[in-house]
Amino acid sequence: MTTPEIPYIPGLAGVPACKSSVSDIDGQKGILKYRGYAIQELAAKSTFEESAYLIINGELPSKQQLEKFDADLRRNRTVDPAIMNLIKAYPKSGHPMSALQASVAAMGMIYPRIIDDDVTNDVAGLRLIAQTSTMIAAFERVRTGKEVVPPRNDLNHAANFLYMLTGKEPDQASAKVFDVCLILHIEHSQNASTFTAMVTGSSLADPYSTMASAIGTLSGPLHGGANERVLAMLNEIGSAGKARQHILDMLGRKELIWGMGHREYKTMDPRATILKGLVQEVFKQLGEGPLFEIANEVAKTMEVERGAKGIWPNVDFYSGIVYNKLGIPTDVFTPVFAIPRMAGWVAHWREQIADNRIFRPNQIYVGSADRSYAPIEKR
Ligand code: COA
Repeated sequence: MTTPEIPYIPGLAGVPACKSSVSDIDGQKGILKYRGYAIQELAAKSTFEESAYLIINGELPSKQQLEKFDADLRRNRTVDPAIMNLIKAYPKSGHPMSALQASVAAMGMIYPRIIDDDVTNDVAGLRLIAQTSTMIAAFERVRTGKEVVPPRNDLNHAANFLYMLTGKEPDQASAKVFDVCLILHIEHSQNASTFTAMVTGSSLADPYSTMASAIGTLSGPLHGGANERVLAMLNEIGSAGKARQHILDMLGRKELIWGMGHREYKTMDPRATILKGLVQEVFKQLGEGPLFEIANEVAKTMEVERGAKGIWPNVDFYSGIVYNKLGIPTDVFTPVFAIPRMAGWVAHWREQIADNRIFRPNQIYVGSADRSYAPIEKR
């Protein structure tokens, strides 16, 4: 059955799927706000912990509220031994995003799968945010034959992840840059993975299944997987002098230029603008390299060739360059996206189940009309 008065819009582009107070985007002007606060202000003045609290609870925390939230996160970082054993048993050749998805889903076998009160849901959200980074770092250590590094409770979320990943406490500048990257990736309204979390959550599935679904969606190259592709593309280009022709050739072959274009933004993604500045800082502090110059040439070429069509750099165009400089392996970029986005997913999941109606859209049937079953020997 179809509803003829509702037009079919591929990809549900522009179709409101919910009412939300979590974040807002003005794609024409390039504005992103978390709960009414501009992303530029949060990136400059806030921390991951504070912005995550804001996204989930709707208000900036008081000093005591922030201290409690931060302490709760730190207390929840350790992964259950059963999950750690799983991580150690995964095929080392598996993608870190698959390892993360399986580990988050496995949390549902350990923790309560109920969602019927705010206290349980608060704890589930904290646990998911706190442990995502531990699981990602643990799989990276295991697959490279290194000892798992347990979390350190005296480090903030950003510094602790880099510490668990590399086994070394990061310098202050790297930890700060990574903290800003986390803030920028917390939330982005109805992107595909957030919508997935809401669809799964709307069936009243447990939070671990809900977030595992979202991780699966984030893994795709049209969504969170793009930053991995950006780095591969920049490395393939090799030098700034070859960038323009390489991009013209790709466009000529009608190939996608990774890290460019966005369903919402028809101008520069504000997160990309902030990250571009961070890339410059990181390169100044951690040493020069060709990637930034190549990226600049790619961006310039695309501005001329596709700017008028609204194809501009998105957040993934620069995030991979920063992560590469911080020593994060390329195939860990997308899992790293999930670390802060977990807070955004949790906020939307809570909003969804607080006023729930199961998602059940319609379709336009384009298949065969009535047919009679033919026995197999007569087909
Ligand atoms: N490179 C080259 N052309 C692009 C492009 C890109 N990265 N992104 C969009 N276009 C082109 C499309 O081919 C289309 O051209 P056409 O009008 O000649 O058919 C036009 O721009 C409109 O794009 P469309 O595919 O309708 O945009 P969308 O809203 O459906 O898709 C993305 C948005 C993000 C999926 C898309 O821009 C993309 O695939 N980008 C690369 C992957 C990426 O960086 N993803 C991370 C997003 S944060």
